[in-house]
Amino acid sequence: MDIAVIGTGYVGLVTGAGLSDFGNDVICVDVDVRKIDALNNGVIPIYEPGLDKLVSKNVEEGRLRFTTDLSEAIRAARAIFIAVGTPPKADGSADLRYVEEVAHSIAEHMNGPKLIITKSTVPIGTGRMIEKIIESHNTGHRASIVSNPEFLREGSAIEDFMKPDRVVIGASDPEAAEMMKEIYAPLHSLEIPFVVTNVESSELIKYAANGFLATKITFINEIATLCERVGANVQDVAIGMGLDTRIGPKFLQAGPGFGGSCFPKDTSAMADIARRHEYEFQIMEAVLRVNDNVKLRMIDKIVDAVGGDVKGKTIGLLGLAFKPETDDMRDSPTIPIIKGLQERGATVRAYDPQAAENAKTMFENVVYCDDAYSTAEGADALVLATEWNEFRALNFDRIRKALREPVLVDLRNVYEPHRMAGLGFRYTSVGRAEDVRKSN
Ligand SMILES: NC(=O)c1ccc[n+]([C@@H]2O[C@H](COP(=O)([O-])OP(=O)(O)OC[C@H]3O[C@@H](n4cnc5c(N)ncnc54)[C@H](O)[C@@H]3O)[C@@H](O)[C@H]2O)c1
Repeated sequence: MDIAVIGTGYVGLVTGAGLSDFGNDVICVDVDVRKIDALNNGVIPIYEPGLDKLVSKNVEEGRLRFTTDLSEAIRAARAIFIAVGTPPKADGSADLRYVEEVAHSIAEHMNGPKLIITKSTVPIGTGRMIEKIIESHNTGHRASIVSNPEFLREGSAIEDFMKPDRVVIGASDPEAAEMMKEIYAPLHSLEIPFVVTNVESSELIKYAANGFLATKITFINEIATLCERVGANVQDVAIGMGLDTRIGPKFLQAGPGFGGSCFPKDTSAMADIARRHEYEFQIMEAVLRVNDNVKLRMIDKIVDAVGGDVKGKTIGLLGLAFKPETDDMRDSPTIPIIKGLQERGATVRAYDPQAAENAKTMFENVVYCDDAYSTAEGADALVLATEWNEFRALNFDRIRKALREPVLVDLRNVYEPHRMAGLGFRYTSVGRAEDVRKSN
């Protein structure tokens, strides 16, 4: 099938590369000239493991191309995937301006029947909105609107795209659903479940899934706070809960709150969607409130660890991205943590294996370091913020000697409290009462 993917970001580029690998002919389009130039020169503009190989293979085999020429891509395609950003507006709602722009462009360049698919995460009713935009242009050509939300996770995006838990297709007509099955034929033959439904249900599935996962994370973060107060260990509690097959072990790691390009914006959009339909989605509103508080609690934890005042002190941060294996800084929990520490008078040094360049566009006044050891140099505390593998087996003697004070704050519960105490650290983590008692 001839396919255009509009928006060549984390989702669009993985979608384009993945669909071309399935055997489709794909043109990826973006308005960002630098991004397209980079891709045409064999440079991948984001960090995503395995993406460079998948892109170069399909470019070499002639199934994948990149362009800024939207009209050419639309005219050449039978199926058009919309994968532009839907960032949050100040009121928490999803900003649909890029989706609307693309819908108008598609209508302007339509030269035959088109399958128009939203890959972007969009509020319920967006499919219908796109349909109306196309109709308003009186193109004389048939447009079938499909919702096909994406569930990939940055850091394992290729595997998630190639072997998803399910493919969700929301289509207004059976022919469109059949064409989607054709596009995803290799997944069909792998017996990946396909959920075929109407457009509205499909749009809601994406928000409901992310809202639920964000709730699970928030739940364990509240349990972690309770653990610190009652003398329990959140990791043991999570294991005990997660072994219940009705609950499952995933998304039960306590930490500095959820972040990233999806959960924060999708939970606030979900609360906003409910409000617009005169319904208060109380759980989602609470999740948003609690998650903000979790991040503030992490700042308090760091301040407490250095004796109650960070003014004039230096804090080293290991990790900046919202999770390992990505360079994405969008809504990373480290953003409010850095701001909070700086507002209280601390100097922040930081190192991240991939996200430093993106962090530099947000924070000029952070001292960016080359590795964990230089980050620790002269710091009054070292904070593990993102659990990159390279932070798991550090030379802790070297770290302790580099630090001004042997204070280690582990926001990801990666290290063992006894071991860290044995190595001479004053160690704090999240929801493990044992080390909280020790540090008090
Ligand atoms: N990043 C994720 O992990 C993830 C996972 C699932 C779903 N999503 C959803 O997918 C969508 C895209 O997310 P992303 O992370 O890929 O965003 P992104 O910001 O990385 O990419 C969006 C791209 O769209 C381009 N763009 C904007 N307007 C355009 C236009 N008119 N024509 C062509 N290109 C245009 C931008 O230049 C940018 O490169 C969002 O709705 C997001 O919620 C993201």
